[in-house]
Amino acid sequence: MRNLNEQTVTQAVVNLLSGTPDPRLKFVLTSLITHLHNFARDVKLTEKELLAGISFLTATGQKCDDKRQEFILLSDVLGLSMLTVAMNNEKPEGCTESTVFGPFHVEGAPVYENGADIANGAVGEPCLVRGTVKDRNGAPIAGAVLEVWQADAAGNYDVQYPDLETHQARGVLTSQDDGSFEFRTVVAVAYPIPVDGPVGDLLRATERHPWRPAHLHFMIKAKNYETLVTHVFRNGDRYLDSDAVFGVRQTLVADWIKQPDGGYTLTYDFVLNPVG
Ligand code: BEZ
Ligand code: FE
Repeated sequence: MRNLNEQTVTQAVVNLLSGTPDPRLKFVLTSLITHLHNFARDVKLTEKELLAGISFLTATGQKCDDKRQEFILLSDVLGLSMLTVAMNNEKPEGCTESTVFGPFHVEGAPVYENGADIANGAVGEPCLVRGTVKDRNGAPIAGAVLEVWQADAAGNYDVQYPDLETHQARGVLTSQDDGSFEFRTVVAVAYPIPVDGPVGDLLRATERHPWRPAHLHFMIKAKNYETLVTHVFRNGDRYLDSDAVFGVRQTLVADWIKQPDGGYTLTYDFVLNPVG
């Protein structure tokens, strides 16, 4: 392995993977190295650009902690998250579609009774959310666990407030015997994804806006069904056609209906896909 040139170096690296015991890892790494080298050849990558790229990825890692997931954000704004979701979540007609997970889910959200107020002090206009969890034949799924999380009226998730010691506008509920669920919260608003890190620099350098249309996040788990990670998006939002992370699907858009006595209601029915 001497005198490698811009063509032969790729095969030399790939050859070193021959002893990788895990066949999937070997396959993925071979493809990654081949594409990475082809990319460098394609753009005729300069040494300065390679260093700039390494600095960018270093800064992205340094921005991460237990509450800030800058690498997820990077994958999101590059469309890689949505591409992976789309490839891995093809479902039969009628099932609720999946979308990006995002960086603001946290483990250990408070568990609530059906009908509870999950806002827990979050600022915003009141909103009643209700719906059902069913299978493709319309049969109710009882005991489905719904994790919900959303931003407040200021466009922030609870984890974005450094001094907040409770959870707000997030919670875990369970569907009833008839598959129904109901909770109170605040109205979701459009918000910008965090731009105070390297991902923000990237958006500014490419003159892209950071906004996501208003949405509620759901992760729904039920025995014998595939876990559903999705959002419900607010109809009429100005960013539905330019979501910074490419997550909008028409079937996930719903109306937040203003009630005469103030507040809003949102009704959305989820349909889960059986495992296998
Ligand atoms: C979110 O909806 O919480 C989100 C998704 C992707 C990037 C940033 C935020
Ligand atoms: Fe979100």
